[in-house]
Amino acid sequence: MCDTCKEKYFITTPLYYPSSRLHIGHAYCTVATDSIARYQRMRGKDVVFLTGTDEHGQKIETKAKEAGVTPKQFVDSIVEGPKGVKDLWKLMNVSYDRFIRTTDETHGETIQKVFRKMYENGDIYKGYYEGMYCTPCESFWTESQLVDGKCPDCGREVQPAREEAYFFKLSKYADRIQALLETPGFLEPASRVNEMINNFIKPGLEDLCVSRTTFKWGIPVDFDPGHVVYVWVDALFGYLSALGFLNGKPQDWEKYWPADVHIIGKEIVRFHAIIWPAFLMSMNLPLPKHIYGHGWLNFNGDKMSKSKGNVVDPYLLAERYGVDALRFFMLRTFPFGSDGNFTNESLISCINVDLANDLGNLVSRTIAMVQKYFEGQLPLEQQEDEDKDGELITEACDLVHKYAEQMDKFALQNALGEIFKVIGRANKYIDENEPWKLAKSEENRPRLARVMYNLLETIRICAGLLRPFIPDTAEEILRRLGNPDSSWESMAFFGTLYRDAKVENGSVLFPRIDMEKELAELEKLQHPAEAPKAEEQVELPEPKAEIAFDDFEKVELTVVKVLSCEKVKKSDKLLCFQLDDGTGTPRQILSGIAKYYQPEELLGKTLVAVTNLAPRKLMSRESRGMLLSAEHGDKLTLIMLDDAIPAGSRLG
Ligand code: MSP
Repeated sequence: MCDTCKEKYFITTPLYYPSSRLHIGHAYCTVATDSIARYQRMRGKDVVFLTGTDEHGQKIETKAKEAGVTPKQFVDSIVEGPKGVKDLWKLMNVSYDRFIRTTDETHGETIQKVFRKMYENGDIYKGYYEGMYCTPCESFWTESQLVDGKCPDCGREVQPAREEAYFFKLSKYADRIQALLETPGFLEPASRVNEMINNFIKPGLEDLCVSRTTFKWGIPVDFDPGHVVYVWVDALFGYLSALGFLNGKPQDWEKYWPADVHIIGKEIVRFHAIIWPAFLMSMNLPLPKHIYGHGWLNFNGDKMSKSKGNVVDPYLLAERYGVDALRFFMLRTFPFGSDGNFTNESLISCINVDLANDLGNLVSRTIAMVQKYFEGQLPLEQQEDEDKDGELITEACDLVHKYAEQMDKFALQNALGEIFKVIGRANKYIDENEPWKLAKSEENRPRLARVMYNLLETIRICAGLLRPFIPDTAEEILRRLGNPDSSWESMAFFGTLYRDAKVENGSVLFPRIDMEKELAELEKLQHPAEAPKAEEQVELPEPKAEIAFDDFEKVELTVVKVLSCEKVKKSDKLLCFQLDDGTGTPRQILSGIAKYYQPEELLGKTLVAVTNLAPRKLMSRESRGMLLSAEHGDKLTLIMLDDAIPAGSRLG
């Protein structure tokens, strides 16, 4: 179908705060959105999947100052740098179509025009703000909204604040917002509707403070430049500026707006389901069709947060188990609308049970049998047995409808559940039909061929429908089946695969993991060795002779980022690093730390190197400098710095 005839589908993730590295919780939201976007593409829609970063505000300004860089340098390194936001989406195989940064010039243009327009039509007015402010959330709260005197969103301390500010007439839209919230399907899951009405609409909507004067890192109000636009006006209109609204680049907002769905986490539902529609009403723009507020991924029962030190690193998990296993785990294990509790046990068990045992086994057993009994290609002569085949075929045929019903409700876990019921049924079908017995007599060959065909066809349908969730593995399974038709339409037809299908072998899709060993290993990696306890006295080295300040000054200490790192062959001590030292040419340094680190855990890390040491050769490779580390007894730790510090910065 030509692109212009396709039905459009505009789907968004929130624009993430690049105030620190993103964790698995952020990846959860993005991967879920990616799966929905891929599903809609499979349905033939013209999808625009938007994600991006929300880069202004006091928090970023403060963090950049602490790191000694400008706010723009700070956000650039977290958005574009190694292990940054874009890098993470690449790792997680996120198929976004557009990425909006609120520091993009075109975005600034949109925001200034929007603010002016709402001001000119009388919805924004100037006044004084007096209230309680939560800096981490960038939110003002009234006394009545505080919970135990603290921020109702994050539970942290709030400070009294008074400043000249512009206000948006949110109160004016209260009735229309209530009616909107009560429109079936607008805000999902339905439980969030009551939350919004009881917590915000019933107590009465107050006008919203939409400008700040106490910090500079934001988009200035063009007709009153002492003010910067409130981050939520700035961020929310990113959904429209990315489509070229009031900035002309690219000019397709009229085609794609309104959003078909905004996928967001539960704590920002208020901004999306109350404030955002009110802004749009003020601008006379159509409203998003759906807002889906998903639950949080907690870690061992607690909300993941950097300050609690319990964030789970997606790089570590993706490297160990593969991206598809990680994507699958998140969407298969937790109901999308509710909170989920991430544990290492649940991750490993999900990989072992669903992926290794059920899916992996079905594919490898079936292909191995086709190889063994038919040398990889089925004969045309096949014999059906309605009694024995009927149930599997009906379930496989019905799957696409059941799956679509769940996907259309964003019930991702249930959609996967439907697929795995059929996978389970197919595994049972193998046991019922005992192909190894059929293979014993020549007479049963046509029947054996049909059993194999039914299994391959079931696998084709399941793999086709798994594509939005585990894109690479699903493609690989289809490849092993000889790349059969896997269009959406073909998913409802049992019998699409050629009768004389030819299959190919491949490596194990998901190796089984030894739970006990792996848990111990993960524990070590996620909580690296703690400092030695007081009783473990370590003998400190002799102090060195004093040196003159000038001597110290001769040492050039440079901030470097790890571009790549590998073990040096035939050496059990050396790691070979390629480092970004800010010069644009990678610097190679060899370091004798292989005993302490796995190369992959160091990728993207910010380290310190002595960069004016005379080069020397180690194991026939040139080493240009030395990485700084701290030694204590038999422990060694590389000196790591805040990732926001740019490569090439000098220490001294
Ligand atoms: N910048 C705002 C969004 C502006 S949208 C116009 C913001 N950013 S955020 O980085 O703090 O959060 C982005 C998304 O990540 C939110 O939807 C949030 O719910 C989600 N998550 C952050 N931690 C999470 C978990 N532990 N689990 C699930 N989602 C989580 O809010």
